[in-house]
Amino acid sequence: MNLIDKLLARMTLDEKLGQLNMATAGQAVTGPVRDDPATEAIRAGKVGALLNLWGREATARYQKIAVEETRLAIPLLFGADVLHGHRTTFPIPLAEAGLFDPQTWERTARAAAVEAAADGIALTFAPMLDIARDPRWGRIAEGPGEDPLVGALFAEAKVRGFQGGDLAAPTSIAATAKHFCAGGAAIAGLEYGAVDVSERTLREVYLPPFRAAVEAGCAAIMPAFNSVAGIPMTSNAPLLRDCLRRELGFDGMIVSDYDAIAELPIHGVAADLAEAAALALKAGVDMDMVSGVYHACLPEALARGLVGLDDIDAAVRRVLTLKRRLGLFDDPYRHVSASSQVARPEVARPAKELAADVARRAITLLTNRGVLPLAADLRRIAVIGPLADAPAEMLGPWSLAGEGSRCVTILQGLRAALPHCEITFAAGVSAKGHEEGEIAAASDLCAKAELVILCVGETADMSGEASSRAAPGLPGRQRALAEAVLGVGVPVVAVISSGRPLMIAWLAERAHALVATWFLGDAAGHAVADVLTGRFNPTGRLAVTWPREVGQIPIFHAARAAARPADPAEPFSSKYIDLPVEPLFSFGHGLSYARVTLRNLRAARNEFFRRDRIELKIDVVNQSTTATEETIFLFAHDLAASSARPLLELKSWAKVALAPREARTVALALPAESLCCLNENFKPVLEPGEFDIFVGLSADRKSLLTTRLRALAGPAPRDGDAAT
Ligand code: GLC
Repeated sequence: MNLIDKLLARMTLDEKLGQLNMATAGQAVTGPVRDDPATEAIRAGKVGALLNLWGREATARYQKIAVEETRLAIPLLFGADVLHGHRTTFPIPLAEAGLFDPQTWERTARAAAVEAAADGIALTFAPMLDIARDPRWGRIAEGPGEDPLVGALFAEAKVRGFQGGDLAAPTSIAATAKHFCAGGAAIAGLEYGAVDVSERTLREVYLPPFRAAVEAGCAAIMPAFNSVAGIPMTSNAPLLRDCLRRELGFDGMIVSDYDAIAELPIHGVAADLAEAAALALKAGVDMDMVSGVYHACLPEALARGLVGLDDIDAAVRRVLTLKRRLGLFDDPYRHVSASSQVARPEVARPAKELAADVARRAITLLTNRGVLPLAADLRRIAVIGPLADAPAEMLGPWSLAGEGSRCVTILQGLRAALPHCEITFAAGVSAKGHEEGEIAAASDLCAKAELVILCVGETADMSGEASSRAAPGLPGRQRALAEAVLGVGVPVVAVISSGRPLMIAWLAERAHALVATWFLGDAAGHAVADVLTGRFNPTGRLAVTWPREVGQIPIFHAARAAARPADPAEPFSSKYIDLPVEPLFSFGHGLSYARVTLRNLRAARNEFFRRDRIELKIDVVNQSTTATEETIFLFAHDLAASSARPLLELKSWAKVALAPREARTVALALPAESLCCLNENFKPVLEPGEFDIFVGLSADRKSLLTTRLRALAGPAPRDGDAAT
């Protein structure tokens, strides 16, 4: 018998249920707080894991109770939300996704894991992989944006970064892919709201990131709070047991979301908490986060025959297996012994430098009428707005161990970068308040300046969980401030801090430049200054479509065709009578200080079989004297398939560095397999027929080059055979 079998054989029912119970230690508040005295519960063997606790001493103190004062000395699992850095805060995931750089995505997760592990954390509730196409939903900030391919590559990179090559290594932490699945499709963008998507959309859009996470060896999965097609994810046996475990082959630990098991009666699928516990356990949820329902109600569920002891043992086994894989039975304090590593400069410095690099690269230049980069002879700049000198806001949502005091503000960054400039500052208004008394003074500062940098947007707590916005524009009286500043007549560079695309078409049309900075973390101010001064050529690209107005939502690049596509000349076509159908900015949009043109897209062969690699080439020319890095996207559209295919499906992208005036032919390769679609049985097939391939610098159709290819039926002929 192995360690776990031996333990299971010795465990009482109460001890087993204790291992399925994750209590909160309350160092951070990420949901309704219950005053569970964790210490007593641990000592009594009623708790197997703690969340929202970090720090060498604190975790060691609780671990000591578990391994020295309980009968079986089973070590605790410490979990926390390490979403975009731990002590070093990186840009929020939606911003980082805009790098379109899996290698960097992995590096930031690795750096976060080193810091988190040293603080005693063994499990992070990340990566968050909810594909989101609705900026009303505050958690769009936490994920990889709207595209399933980006989500899948993001998932793989983050799991590898967090878990490293060996889960038992002192600097590895177990990753939790969350929230399985489709929470981003909540009706009306309302947090925790019901989701109703077709199985096809579920499989084509929301599942791919989780498939990738499982294939990357993700140790844990967290179901979403939401119901999908009427079944809450926490008790969704078809999706958790049949799809996730059987079809995708996930054999790790499933941990509920915060209090989610206790919320099953609220969903209306359980008459009482014993039923709720049974539904969740039978669906495959192993660990109960915070609700305490497993520990309190599974005995009754057992007595009522709603569950069997084998169901409980299966869950306990998966929890203990994760602890064993993490090396906790060998050394319960293994993580905190690594804490000395993080303090060493050769460890701390790279994280800081990486944060600065990612922050620069996450900044997305949306419009520029020539005022950026800032002219070298500028001498008087007015920095205006409530987000200009707001260090804590730069952390963004889900920064547990981050410290606002470490963040460089935009004002600080600009003053450091432009010592020869007279830089005045006025907040003008608060971020969310309704007072306007200081707007006049701010306008006066603008009148004395040669250029205004207007720093507006959301506060960190306006996105992330429970932060849905029905009217996601500039909060408070910021628009009044912006209108006044724009009215002064001095050129205005608008810098937007937010966790989501904001509805600011009016500002985009009037500002002389518009820059999306999202929430950039520790290095925010220096990164913004580096981009605005031109020391860094902006390379960020939108991982999510930016709507013109909230009425366009959901709006995304991979839409299926309408029966009558929008045609301004055709009254009976799919359009709004009061707005364009196009977004304000397309998926993939982002300007640089260079000017790059694409020409002459061509394919090596115009016909292919499923086993072929499709080879394409395109000429890329840097028409400017500025070195740049461009992201070239490749989309496909299957013109006639067994189901209506999205008009633009992202199939790959390439990052291309170009010297000034450089012209280059870029090769793009595409496995024909990636053009498969799901047939009526949801099996991937390559259906014969024509495909349009599109290549461009974003999903803006006006900018795309295209070529048409044909998929042939049957296997590729062997070498030497006549083409059939
Ligand atoms: C929250 C979030 C989840 C997080 C958990 C623990 O409710 O939904 O993403 O990991 O609780 O903080």
